[in-house]
Amino acid sequence: MKTCWVIYNGSLVSDKFADQAQLVAEAAERAGVQTYIMKNYEILMDLKNDAALPDFAVLLDKDILLGYFLKSHGIPVYNDPAIIDLCDNKATQYIRLAARGLPMPRTIVAPKVYPNFSILESGYFERIIEELKFPMIIKEGHGSFGMKVYLIEDEAAFYEKVESLRGVDFVFQEFIASSRGRDIRVNIVGGEIVASMYRHSETDFRANITNGGKASPIDLTETQKRLALDAADAVGAVFAGVDLLFGTDEEPLVCEVNAAAHIRNILNVTGINVADAMIAYILEDLR
Ligand SMILES: Nc1ncnc2c1ncn2[C@@H]1O[C@H](COP(=O)(O)OP(=O)(O)O)[C@@H](O)[C@H]1O
Ligand SMILES: [Mg+2]
Repeated sequence: MKTCWVIYNGSLVSDKFADQAQLVAEAAERAGVQTYIMKNYEILMDLKNDAALPDFAVLLDKDILLGYFLKSHGIPVYNDPAIIDLCDNKATQYIRLAARGLPMPRTIVAPKVYPNFSILESGYFERIIEELKFPMIIKEGHGSFGMKVYLIEDEAAFYEKVESLRGVDFVFQEFIASSRGRDIRVNIVGGEIVASMYRHSETDFRANITNGGKASPIDLTETQKRLALDAADAVGAVFAGVDLLFGTDEEPLVCEVNAAAHIRNILNVTGINVADAMIAYILEDLR
């Protein structure tokens, strides 16, 4: 019998992370895998460590170092930590998506500015305003549930935000007005679409459910399917939650790829348990 660790981040207080781990662990048990739910800090990353390790690990978190640690011991980790690493920073994933030529909002990666310094007087930000105009989106590299995505309406808000983000990776992005408050989430496992939902918010430009969005099942068009699959493939994510926006003629644009996508909401909305597909994929991959 195979053994597996399902790892989530123990420092996060919200129940949804433990719940996510529970869903995946139950799917693994159903498939006959002996499964242990682990908080990331329960695994001691002692580099002298020769402790008992499982046959594989499902890393539901962004503890990328833990992923690298496990891989260094020869443990297959899903998603691969290098992929979680790439996707965890929206700037690095957009660079990858753009290199693939995928349709996405126009995006400019902000330059590195050290926290104790400023480029306010350099003319750089005036160039950005000139290129993207208002309203525009500013998005931090690291952020989930819409919490680090800002709709910037004017110069005052713009300069306040860029000054507060010194030392932080972020991007400037075209605001897709035709997609205000609505998007599509597509869950992909091993190059196949497992489930998808339409999300819309009456109260916010962000469609994230955690942020007040409501979700319903959706039948994807062929174009939406193709783009979601291409986006997951471009970043190399075998498990992916791809967000798509609606362009001016409803044509899809990639919003982002989540390499640690949550699966509870999509289960509630569609009745499809993505965890079963994840475990089936892993067991096939390990054969
Ligand atoms: N360029 C954009 N134009 C319009 N809406 C956007 C844009 N980028 C993001 N959004 C909205 O904000 C939400 C959160 O953005 P996203 O990039 O998915 O970050 P997060 O990782 O926080 O979910 C999206 O689901 C979408 O509704
Ligand atoms: Mg998102």
